[in-house]
Amino acid sequence: MGPSGSGKSTLMNILGCLDIATTGTYLYEGIAVEKLDADRRSLLRRYALGFIFQGFNLLARTSAQDNVELPLLYRGLSRKDRHEKALAALTSVGLGDKLRSSPAELSGGQQQRVAIARAIVTEPSTLFADEPTGNLDSVTTRDVMELLTRLNVDRGITVLIVTHADDVAACAKRTVLIKDGLIESDVAKT
Ligand SMILES: Nc1ncnc2c1ncn2[C@@H]1O[C@H](COP(=O)(O)OP(=O)(O)OP(=O)(O)O)[C@@H](O)[C@H]1O
Ligand SMILES: [Mg+2]
Repeated sequence: MGPSGSGKSTLMNILGCLDIATTGTYLYEGIAVEKLDADRRSLLRRYALGFIFQGFNLLARTSAQDNVELPLLYRGLSRKDRHEKALAALTSVGLGDKLRSSPAELSGGQQQRVAIARAIVTEPSTLFADEPTGNLDSVTTRDVMELLTRLNVDRGITVLIVTHADDVAACAKRTVLIKDGLIESDVAKT
């Protein structure tokens, strides 16, 4: 958490191996990420990390099923494996009955759940979410936070969330406050 412009997205992009810091080093599982070339960094992202965005970032005019299958296509999985894994991911986020719906036919909360299914279909160890509930109303926000909490508790996925909302932050086990590009406080729930 932190004010606008404090550096939350910048920090998340570095942690998510999308960006490299100008100075210093970032170790992911002991690997100095800034020493990897762009191809290796993208492999690390593809195999270990998942991303969720405020604006959902789904492909329009593309079904929920096909949106979720996309990262598996990049991994070279067979059509049958892609179908099965996407179906399982969409079912696990409660959208097993919306496989053929395109984003325009879904509510904001449902679109975000498709995006979560797309992020978890590759079984990442860490999930990065930059204001995932920023475009959602409070009831839908609660649904999405329950889902993200379940991914952490049931599957052991680490979830990093940037948020401006206190109720979203309250779901987390640890809260880092950022101000003017620096960590102001870092508090773990006991
Ligand atoms: N690649 C970059 N290189 C240098 N400066 C950057 C870069 N990206 C962002 N900044 C600057 O760093 C600061 C932090 O930006 P950032 O997007 O991380 O803020 P934020 O905390 O996510 O804000 P918001 O809550 O509005 O999303 C801003 O002043 C921004 O202009
Ligand atoms: Mg931001």
